[in-house]
Amino acid sequence: MPSILYLDQSGQLGGAELMLAEIARQVGDPAHVILFDDGPFVAYLEQLGVSVQVERVRLGVTKSGGWLASANAVPALLRQVRTIVRHARRFDLIYANTSKALVVGALAAAYLRKPLVYHLHDILDRSHFSPMNIRVLTSLARFFAARVIANSQATADAFVAASGDRSRVEVIYNGFDPTPFLTDQDGERVATRVSLETQSSSFVTIVVGRIARWKGQHVLLEAARSQKDWTVWIVGDAFFTEEDMQYKRELEEIASTADLAGRVKFCGFRKDLPTLYSAADVVVHCSTAPEPFGRVIVEAMLSARPVVASNAGGAKEIVRSDTTGWLVAPGDFCSLRETLLEIERNPGLAALRAQAGRSDALRRFSIDAILGQIRTSVETCVF
Ligand code: UDP
Ligand code: GLC
Repeated sequence: MPSILYLDQSGQLGGAELMLAEIARQVGDPAHVILFDDGPFVAYLEQLGVSVQVERVRLGVTKSGGWLASANAVPALLRQVRTIVRHARRFDLIYANTSKALVVGALAAAYLRKPLVYHLHDILDRSHFSPMNIRVLTSLARFFAARVIANSQATADAFVAASGDRSRVEVIYNGFDPTPFLTDQDGERVATRVSLETQSSSFVTIVVGRIARWKGQHVLLEAARSQKDWTVWIVGDAFFTEEDMQYKRELEEIASTADLAGRVKFCGFRKDLPTLYSAADVVVHCSTAPEPFGRVIVEAMLSARPVVASNAGGAKEIVRSDTTGWLVAPGDFCSLRETLLEIERNPGLAALRAQAGRSDALRRFSIDAILGQIRTSVETCVF
């Protein structure tokens, strides 16, 4: 097994970081993680026994930013490349887990003539990135990455459509340890609802994920507006940008309007997700832009909850409509409401699909199988 230096730009607990934690824990001998920012992800990795350090850098580049911002970032970028070169000398391979990690990792790998793997967790299209940033990322991957691991076929397709090199791409889904989601939480259902001031008779819809406009929490609020017996639990927080904070304030305002007041609970970032999924009647994924993968959808399926997801991106690879869940057009809150009503009126059908969803998720997203694929992928880049 090669020694691997993992790079990630974030100190937050996003989906890309949660997947990286599992990989770094089990792939690489030794494995070491360098984060470009501090945050709760550091303690999370330490708790898992993963060796980690923070090398802070402020590149001042945003996903949708232009060339000027990038030009200003050059001195900081070069300093960060020098730092990573220093650390990377003693590793066989550099593994970049985010876009800024690719920029730094590609230059360091080229300088040291070491193989580079890029784990692509983003859909490189105009709904998420500026044209210039897309060009920079696909070019760096073409010239410097031995392998691009895409977290879904949708992510791989967007990469190729943006002129990414098809021959280097391999689709590997996220993997999950199902144990916490299989534990019977029914006994805690009532207590969880009480703790969230939710009546036991209420039809509880839950949306889980960081608060960001493209995650579309407002779509669920609109769908729930006319249904007085529904409660909405919004789980997750805004942690990336000021824009995310602004969106959170907008959601709070919508939630306080007369139609919804008292029926929307902002739960913040939670660590007890299996309990929350189990206490809800239906899990909603309502991203308005294509979701690259969508870990929360798989977690809901493993919890055997009925799932409604946006019919785009990785979500439509995870959910098989009419068999393991429901898919609705992104942003279409009327269709979402109709689908949720169907679920509310047919608990038997909902339970059947939820059980089918659990079996399907157990079969397709096993952490051991997925780590095996990643191991093979990195080994072929080194040996
Ligand atoms: N998550 C969590 N607590 C929260 C909200 C989210 O632990 O309050 C986790 C969730 O379990 C999932 C991840 O954050 O594993 C979000 O990943 P996803 O791929 O759904 O979306 P991302 O935020 O990466 O775009
Ligand atoms: C990114 C994507 C999300 C995906 C996660 C793990 O954070 O936004 O869709 O599930 O990475 O691959």
